[in-house]
Amino acid sequence: MINFTDIHDRKQTRSVKWDILQTVFQSEDVLPMWVADMDFQTPQPVIDALVERSKHGIFGYTILDNDVKGEISGWLERHHGWSIDTDWLSFSPGVIASLHMVIQAFTNPGDKVLIQTPVYTPFYSVITKHDREVVKNKLVYNGDSYQINFDDFEEKLKSGVKAFILCSPHNPVGRVWSKEELKKLADLCMSYNVLIVSDEIHGDLTFPGIEHFPVAALSEEISHETITFMSPSKTFNLAGLQASYIVTSDKEKRKILNNQLESQGHHMLNTMGNLALEISYKHGDEWLTELRKVLHEHRNYVVDMFEQHTSKLKVVQTEGTYLLWIDCSKLGLDDKSLKEFMTKKAKVGLNAGVEYGKEGSQFMRMNIACPKATLVEGVKRIIDAVHTT
Ligand SMILES: Cc1ncc(COP(=O)(O)O)c(C=O)c1O
Repeated sequence: MINFTDIHDRKQTRSVKWDILQTVFQSEDVLPMWVADMDFQTPQPVIDALVERSKHGIFGYTILDNDVKGEISGWLERHHGWSIDTDWLSFSPGVIASLHMVIQAFTNPGDKVLIQTPVYTPFYSVITKHDREVVKNKLVYNGDSYQINFDDFEEKLKSGVKAFILCSPHNPVGRVWSKEELKKLADLCMSYNVLIVSDEIHGDLTFPGIEHFPVAALSEEISHETITFMSPSKTFNLAGLQASYIVTSDKEKRKILNNQLESQGHHMLNTMGNLALEISYKHGDEWLTELRKVLHEHRNYVVDMFEQHTSKLKVVQTEGTYLLWIDCSKLGLDDKSLKEFMTKKAKVGLNAGVEYGKEGSQFMRMNIACPKATLVEGVKRIIDAVHTT
């Protein structure tokens, strides 16, 4: 049975989201709505398969066979209209690990790497940890939603950028880039010989009626200049099982990538992650349809509540992900005071917008992938706090 309303106690489960509140928020007394995992159980067939596999009791080295690869190609075809050859697949424990490897394998120290800010925090360290230079194409906020400044994007490419890390859909601003936007970005990258490194981990999590387009699916030429990162981890709440995959259609690039993976000791997934990947893709369609409806309802609920009860908070227009980007500028607080306001006064644990770059100043990021009752409580706490300011 699909159930997105039951509350599961996640405390004392070594949960990053729930078990390190004191360290992150200097208080145990906050409702955690931050790090990007969900408070929902993964689909029942995945739970059953993991339980069965556990009972076997032997957890030796495991293989990534054609059944797993076939489920991935089937998933990409069904959900994103993308036909891939299973030879294009490589595997890694996570998208962040893969990004580190790609930056090391395809760029040199001192090279420029382009990102669109504000953006998922590890994008910065993926570049700087390897002594590459961060170049920013700032997304443009028009008071309602975010757009791409293509002129600036081209200027930055012209300045000698080697690779562009695309976040599609975008965390934290929640944009699901349209086909036209992606084509324009990709064509510019083709013109300036820039590798597209496409993080599509949120690609399955669009609101009903909104389609995610894998950038590599736009044309064969684009596909050959793109390395795509995907995973069932956000989609089916499997982040702790550490299973992700990389799609590279260009043979030469795949060879370089696989060599990098091998040189860092990555040659398989863990037994449980491997199985969860296969089973979630095999049996997860209906569950995902329901999840997308629930997330859309939750987004609308927060938008409506803020609209009805306060003029000081605005949810930026989003088309996907379960992360809401909230414009808090009308509260008139600096970033430190804003975080304190949320943590100490409202008693909710959100991510501060500045974590995603200074362009995120005066925003907060809220995770709405929780049972409705939790969401209602979190929103109430925030509205009450605003009213007593
Ligand atoms: C855009 C983006 N990429 C990557 C990740 C993390 O991926 P992984 O856990 O596979 O390293 C996240 C998690 O929030 C994310 O939002």
